Amino acid sequence: MFFESKSRLRQLLLCTTLLPLATVAVRAQDANPDVIRLVPKVEPAEFARPSILPDRIVLTWASDPAKSQAVTWRTSTAVTRGLAEITIADAGPDLESQSKQLVAVSQPLTTDLNTAHFHTVKFEGLTPKTKYAYRVGDGVNWSEWFQFTTASTEPEPFSFIYFGDAQNDVRSKWSRVIREAYRDAPKAKFMIHAGDLINQAESDVEWQEWFEAGAWMNGMIPSIAVPGNHEIAKLDDNTRRVSHHWRPQFAFPEDGPEGMEEACYTLVYQGVRIVGMNSNEKPMEQAEWLDKVLTENKEKWVVCTFHHPMFSTGKDRDNAGLRAIWKPVLDKHRVDLVLQGHDHTYGRTGLDTPMGHVNLATGVNTSDVFSGTVYVVSVSGPKMYNLQRHPFMSRHAEDTQLYQIIHIDGDKLHFEAFTATGELYDAFTLTKQKGAKNQLTEEAPSTPERLRPPVVAAPAKKASEVLK
Ligand SMILES: [Fe+2]
Repeated sequence: MFFESKSRLRQLLLCTTLLPLATVAVRAQDANPDVIRLVPKVEPAEFARPSILPDRIVLTWASDPAKSQAVTWRTSTAVTRGLAEITIADAGPDLESQSKQLVAVSQPLTTDLNTAHFHTVKFEGLTPKTKYAYRVGDGVNWSEWFQFTTASTEPEPFSFIYFGDAQNDVRSKWSRVIREAYRDAPKAKFMIHAGDLINQAESDVEWQEWFEAGAWMNGMIPSIAVPGNHEIAKLDDNTRRVSHHWRPQFAFPEDGPEGMEEACYTLVYQGVRIVGMNSNEKPMEQAEWLDKVLTENKEKWVVCTFHHPMFSTGKDRDNAGLRAIWKPVLDKHRVDLVLQGHDHTYGRTGLDTPMGHVNLATGVNTSDVFSGTVYVVSVSGPKMYNLQRHPFMSRHAEDTQLYQIIHIDGDKLHFEAFTATGELYDAFTLTKQKGAKNQLTEEAPSTPERLRPPVVAAPAKKASEVLK
């Protein structure tokens, strides 16, 4: 009896002692991959699996933002007919009875993980400056009602957001950037993505991550995107093409050079001409097209976006060939702002952006005539490169995720770059001058540039040490 009690007491003490250890072991599994996992990892096929409920809902423009709006979404192949309903938004909850129903253009897309249906509806004949409510589905299963507002036909003040490469760990580490940008500019009229939205052009799970990061914001704020080199897929026959996902999942204009539909295009938003180009291919064709577009342009402001920068901020990544073809056109038409990606650093030109040929190795000849174009390279995702500084750049950054908010009002364009934590990192204002290049006012904060610590060379060993 005595021994039995003693044994029980020992068991009780053992349990009491081991209980905290068990808790520690469960917690340790996150840090130590060798500890047995209690739950299975969600596989990409499951994470990206389409269902009968609409997902990857994204607004874009295929034509005039004052009178149209396109929406694209994905379902499983069980949904063979996509529908969208739209009505002028009202504060009352009965949106259904007033709405008009449209049938989507649907197409299958077979990816590395699944086959899904992508549906696109282009709302046309909309009233400018009007708030609409819409939902997408199949007549049985619907998305929530989203709202968007059409543009004015006249120049009016507005803001938009610009992101450099999102590309890697998009769900984990880019989502905070797009969400912080939304918190700062919830009334932004669109979001520009300057290429490399994802890392592997044909990876369905990466596209799933991109759409999850932007979530319902993509259904309310239209996106304007151009392909980066990571949206270019290499096919079995060694040819290259824009990702098979690109055209089914976005509806951009088809007004670019032949064969570059939805990858090279132009739009006008309230007095601002936006030009998106595909810097991966056909530079000559696009230069000729750009020259024609800008020769015919009547808008006060021109903003161009493409992936490969005219002035690289990455080490040994100069795009001299592309610069030789495109920059003369940008100079000729005094394009106001060029938004780029590719170099996974930040760099923004200042007053001394050279108009003519630049010898990057020896710097800039200050007697050059300056075009006034401001060139920006930025990065929003977590992949980071070494910085190439330029004397004609006013602000640089390394190892910093950023988003940019651009506000245009009459003769002024105000640009602000924010870090992923919402701190102002760079700013300037462009002011239109009659018959002359823009006046650039530097407004960057006085905080130091975020740069990697300089690499300090190890002291040379003494001959006596080497011999040991
Ligand atoms: Fe990139």
